[in-house]
Amino acid sequence: MALSMAEDNGNLLIIRNSSILHRFREIAMNKSIVILGILLITGACVHATEAPTLNLGKALFESTELGTKGRGCVTCHAQGKGLELIGDFNDTELKDIINACLRDAVGAKMISPEAQEMEALLGYVRGFQKTSQ
Ligand code: HEC
Repeated sequence: MALSMAEDNGNLLIIRNSSILHRFREIAMNKSIVILGILLITGACVHATEAPTLNLGKALFESTELGTKGRGCVTCHAQGKGLELIGDFNDTELKDIINACLRDAVGAKMISPEAQEMEALLGYVRGFQKTSQ
């Protein structure tokens, strides 16, 4: 009787253990799902912020209403004309050049190097670059 009790207890223990294991696996699975979810959301956010920035860059590049001269970047740099070698410049230098063109060629106000519009223009212009930095 004592033996069978012990056996029973043993079985019970095994059952319990396996259900604990099961629970652990469930928790591990849930964790993986949560991590996967976080990764997916982060990826989507990165993508979501990149696309509008490029769209803004394109819109600014193509607008002929930024300044007083009725010209846009696109007027002189259609299809990236003259921008093939901008890989020679780092971002700070390029922002200065963009501002020079904004002021002198477009007749617009210069943009702060930190402004979202400047980052957008820079990113869009970088797309025409044919050389590496
Ligand atoms: C009226 C014509 C004109 C307009 C409009 C114009 N640019 Fe320019 N841009 C030039 C000229 C000319 C150069 C000098 C080209 C050279 O020296 O190789 C230049 C140079 C540049 C360069 C440096 C290219 C290099 O490799 O030296 C960048 C970048 C640039 N422009 C961006 C822009 C952006 C962005 C805009 C719009 C905000 C713009 N430009 C508007 C005429 C223009």
